[in-house]
Amino acid sequence: MKKSVKVMIELAAGVIIWPRWMMFKIYRRTMGEDRACAAIGQRASRWAGIQGEYFRRKLYGRIIQKMGSDVVISFGTVLTKATIELGDRVYIGSYCLLGDVRVDRDTLIADHVNIPSGGKQHGISRLDVPMREQAGEARTIRVGEDCWIGSGSVVMADVGNHCVVGAGSVVTRPVEDYKIVAGNPARVIGDRREKAGEMWV
Ligand SMILES: CC(C)(COP(=O)(O)OP(=O)(O)OC[C@H]1O[C@@H](n2cnc3c(N)ncnc32)[C@H](O)[C@@H]1OP(=O)(O)O)[C@@H](O)C(=O)NCCC(=O)NCCS
Repeated sequence: MKKSVKVMIELAAGVIIWPRWMMFKIYRRTMGEDRACAAIGQRASRWAGIQGEYFRRKLYGRIIQKMGSDVVISFGTVLTKATIELGDRVYIGSYCLLGDVRVDRDTLIADHVNIPSGGKQHGISRLDVPMREQAGEARTIRVGEDCWIGSGSVVMADVGNHCVVGAGSVVTRPVEDYKIVAGNPARVIGDRREKAGEMWV
């Protein structure tokens, strides 16, 4: 896209997102930061097309803790926590749901990926109290730089740098740098360093 068109969309984004940003501030006061972030994020997720990506980047740039340059947040995706950090050139596909997560630069997240704030949001130890009333623990999930998280994955543990998570995987244990993991639960199926130089045909 031409630089002049990009600049115009950036300028338009600054105006378009303004009412949503104001709404976020009101919601934050009345219902708290997390619910405000999710509520505004759901609305923003419906902005279509390339301009929608610009608008979401601009809006979330004001809401979340860190927004890198040239981040793409695709249609249908919702960031639910203001604590989220996204590094430069992070790409997030369509219909993803992100909780408290830090994603480092150049990482690709495919469509329909879910990264909740860990896997222990609800306590399950007491049998006399409904789980919805038992205290759980939320934690920040870290996805390193230059990772590829395949479609439909659920990531509940940290992923190192330069990793691949196969499509449809459920990550329950930390993944070491350069590992290729797949399945439910995700297991190591390879190491990118051993595949270096190989070509897919
Ligand atoms: C993981 C992936 C990158 C392949 O990596 P790879 O190192 O080349 O793995 P291979 O194809 O050599 O497969 C190795 C083994 O893992 C298995 N495997 C590969 N991907 C898998 C997956 N997603 N889930 C479960 N098992 C998988 C293979 O069946 C094979 O098993 P086998 O040894 O019993 O035959 C690829 O399968 C994948 O999932 N890509 C993500 C695609 C995607 O989500 N695209 C979205 C648009 S960007």
